[in-house]
Amino acid sequence: MANGLDDVVAAETVLSDVDGAGGHLTIRGHSLTELAGHWRYGQVVRLLFDGFFDELPGDDELEKAIGNARVEVCERLQPMLGELPALDVYSGMRTGIALLPDGDSLADALRLIAVPAVLTPALLRLGRGEKPVPPDARADHANDMLRMLSGTASPALAKALDTYLVTVCDHGLNASTFATRVVASTQAGLTSAILAGLGALKGPLHGGAPGPVIQMLDAIEASGDAAAWLRNEIARGERIMGFGHRIYRVRDPRADVLKAVVRRLGTRYETGSRLAFAETVEQAALDVLRVAKPQRSIQTNVEFYTALLLEAAGFPKEAFSNVFAAGRVAGWIAHAREQQATGRLIRPQSRYVGPAPDLVA
Ligand code: COA
Repeated sequence: MANGLDDVVAAETVLSDVDGAGGHLTIRGHSLTELAGHWRYGQVVRLLFDGFFDELPGDDELEKAIGNARVEVCERLQPMLGELPALDVYSGMRTGIALLPDGDSLADALRLIAVPAVLTPALLRLGRGEKPVPPDARADHANDMLRMLSGTASPALAKALDTYLVTVCDHGLNASTFATRVVASTQAGLTSAILAGLGALKGPLHGGAPGPVIQMLDAIEASGDAAAWLRNEIARGERIMGFGHRIYRVRDPRADVLKAVVRRLGTRYETGSRLAFAETVEQAALDVLRVAKPQRSIQTNVEFYTALLLEAAGFPKEAFSNVFAAGRVAGWIAHAREQQATGRLIRPQSRYVGPAPDLVA
């Protein structure tokens, strides 16, 4: 068996399906394109949570409850805020989440949804020597995140961020969701399970990729020759960030959704020239990868255009994984609840390949 558990089915889920051959993502019976840009993040949280919590309120009430949770966690974490900027922005968010109670109720879940959205802008502002902007319980989740980041939120950017949060809300049994389910299977609380997901998401092979995409675009721009830069990276044994996927053998459908969002922003937010440059880099990378790795179909993944979208929304690259977590946390919670409901501990076997013990005479 491969070390990466390739092709192993480790859970049954009603939450999402990743069709790697066809390039389709289904979230609770809806295709990604049906949801992204059409449903608000709060509505998708409700879709994912449906059946996993008693007495789930309707869409509007749930969105209000998420708004109240933002205010509650802001007040709860206020006394510790001064300590967290000493850490990098991802670790600061993770530490803040670890301070929450470890329950399984809807209130616990909504606090977990709220923390990345509240702490990420607050920590970024504190890091810049600015006062955090408190959340507005009545605002839409994405709109409020941007308002807490920069004091204002244009409707176009809020819509773009909302579409991003929906696009990344769930994605089958990816590494962070699997980690979340393993912890949930022990019947530990939601905070413990979500901390496991956060740990797994951080790595550059998973949710840590979009920051390095910006570094790559900047380095290629400085070098002036995309193909030569990319070939050199591969010759050095490096991976091209924003390309390749364990499941997709065709283009990641989320890449197209996010690229369309960036294109729509382009005319108003001067992302147009960045997008045009990124498109030439994307094409060069696909050409170079096709030649360098002919045995593998390596296509553009979600992180490539995530980088452009979050940059346009005003987030610095070191906070991109935080924003990913702000979207994915809904999926993690739903998976944790689904796993808890099975009552079954996830406990696979390992095969011992080490030395035998010395035989005692
Ligand atoms: N750049 C260069 N080579 C890549 C690559 C990339 N982005 N992705 C895969 N490969 C190569 C590997 O080096 C390997 O080559 P080899 O057989 O010559 O050793 C081959 O493709 C298969 O690699 P493997 O690790 O088995 O592929 P995988 O499908 O399991 O990997 C990722 C999936 C996501 C870990 C991988 O594509 C990657 O590291 N991508 C870059 C990071 C990224 O964008 N992550 C976000 C994912 S949404």
